Amino acid sequence: MDQIIYHNAERDIAQILKNEKKNPLQQVVDYLYNTFSHYSWVGIYILKGKILYLGPWNGVQATEHTKIPIGKGICGAAAKTGKTEVIADVKGDDRYLACFLSTKAEIVIPIKYNNKILGELDIDSDTKNSFKDQDILFLEKITDMLIPHISNL
Ligand code: SME
Repeated sequence: MDQIIYHNAERDIAQILKNEKKNPLQQVVDYLYNTFSHYSWVGIYILKGKILYLGPWNGVQATEHTKIPIGKGICGAAAKTGKTEVIADVKGDDRYLACFLSTKAEIVIPIKYNNKILGELDIDSDTKNSFKDQDILFLEKITDMLIPHISNL
């Protein structure tokens, strides 16, 4: 995807987070889903205790995985290690918890403050090998921008 789209998205999301008082996380999720055609499902999980709880999301279908324990699935793995997980082909990863038949690739970026995991941004794609370096760099910037907006600080 064109670099300019990522650049503009960073600016637009900063604006949303500055101005949107009511539900900034939902607005950011909606923006990501509506702007990037290779993002087929976008959601934010919030960590409470040892469980990730699904917060705002956007996509064609709801997921059955609304609560994920640390260590389970790709989401639980990222919450355990604090590292971004990029799965080029979910079929090749036996940790994967299936949500949608159409999903081929997934990225999970932890939202961390002072090494404490607050939650994560989870994005599915219907195309294999969808998440490139520019997605990773961009989404890691976005998760940092979300930190002050996560309520379990
Ligand atoms: N696939 C995830 C579960 C969440 S859904 O993608 C929305 C996982 O393996 O943890």
